[in-house]
Amino acid sequence: MRSGTGTGNAAPVVIVGAGHSGVAVAAGLRAKGWEGCILLIDAENGLPYERPPLSKELLKDGATDESAVLRKERFYADKGIDRLAGVTAASIDRNGRTVLLSDGTRQAYHRLVIATGSRARPLTVPGAGLQGVRSLRTRDDALELKRLLVPGARVAIIGAGYIGLEVAAASAARGCEVTVLEFQDRVMSRVTSAPVSCYFEKLHMRHGVRFVFGAAVTSIDGEQSFQGEQRAQSVTVADGTVFPADVVLAGIGVLPNQELAADAGLDCRDGILVDGDGRTSDPAIYASGDVTRFTSPIDGASQRLECIQNALAQADRVAAHITGQPAAEPEVPWFWTVQHGVRLQTAGVRHREDQVIVRGEPAGGKFSVVYLRGGRLAAVDTIANLADFRTAKRLVAQGALIDPALAADPGIPLADAIAGIPHHAAADLAAARS
Ligand code: NAI
Repeated sequence: MRSGTGTGNAAPVVIVGAGHSGVAVAAGLRAKGWEGCILLIDAENGLPYERPPLSKELLKDGATDESAVLRKERFYADKGIDRLAGVTAASIDRNGRTVLLSDGTRQAYHRLVIATGSRARPLTVPGAGLQGVRSLRTRDDALELKRLLVPGARVAIIGAGYIGLEVAAASAARGCEVTVLEFQDRVMSRVTSAPVSCYFEKLHMRHGVRFVFGAAVTSIDGEQSFQGEQRAQSVTVADGTVFPADVVLAGIGVLPNQELAADAGLDCRDGILVDGDGRTSDPAIYASGDVTRFTSPIDGASQRLECIQNALAQADRVAAHITGQPAAEPEVPWFWTVQHGVRLQTAGVRHREDQVIVRGEPAGGKFSVVYLRGGRLAAVDTIANLADFRTAKRLVAQGALIDPALAADPGIPLADAIAGIPHHAAADLAAARS
């Protein structure tokens, strides 16, 4: 049995997982006055790091793995946050309030926070285990991928989601020949609408990226290398077409790391079920970040959000509940990606059935797409349009009723597209401001 070395003498708050959410819970507990011990259990070695740079900056020349560190070493010492690196939690004894760790020791907890995040969905076709077939989730994954992305390398990317497209952009910039094989008929179909997909597809094509849609990968085939290992050489899709490839990256979504919770009998359904305070079905156990499923305070939808905004917001609520301090006001979820230097920022969560309004001219490189649900603003995608993004966060939170005709006019500020403002008055306001 081990206990923390922090400032209190009771069993610590044990946080399993040191991604954005786990680290934010630890920091939030101290910020809200928690004086007891805090123990952060990190499956990886080294300092906890940020994930967004892994598929962007870290793939560029000159980036060091230190550039993605979440908090410097001193932070943990200053705040009295104990860390165990290279250790995982194997099981939970809920009655005894202990966690069995992979090093064979047992750790008592006062409160347990599961912030285990998600893992890359594995590719299951024959040949998926060959050398050169990679996924991207950890810093080591990113560093290994960068080593493989040499000029002239033929890179086949399976999946045209955030990971696939950000890596496609980075690979093209490194002088690789890039082919993206996507199961659906357009890029980023999980997260955005056709006009935005179309814009990004064209953007990538202008940078030499090739797309194959409706592509069901059936196998990856290899050859014996000089070192005697089987290396990937090509990817085959269902119609028999073969795509030569030296590097294959699978970016086909993620799975929540919920097994620790599920094995302990906590309620899970594609994510650990938590309430608005991050509490699981056991009052002594919380969960936070990508691994959770919860009811949206904005629209009541059951959701699992894979974004940093949610990882931080949930961490704040968990820390608030444990310390009895107030939490920040709920925020509209937001997301961003950068591809070939173009920034897509999204406020809110779009549903497939939403009314889609394009605002501005995609060919001009600056536009937004507005999503209405029952006439109310549900989400907005903005491309190189910070003004719309900022306004959208506020209006989505308000559930503002929007006039579709006004919203479609990029000359009228989004804030003036609220239903009920007469069209001529909104246009006059816009003219007066410009
Ligand atoms: P994703 O869900 O965004 O995209 C996966 C894509 O793969 C989808 O387009 C899907 O249709 C396709 N796909 C699935 N199975 C396939 C198959 N067998 N063959 C071909 N295509 C297939 O997931 P992605 O891109 O892997 O990202 C993983 C996680 O990383 C997500 O949680 C994402 O939010 C996060 N992430 C976020 C970023 C951002 O916000 N900028 C950047 C990078 C990652």
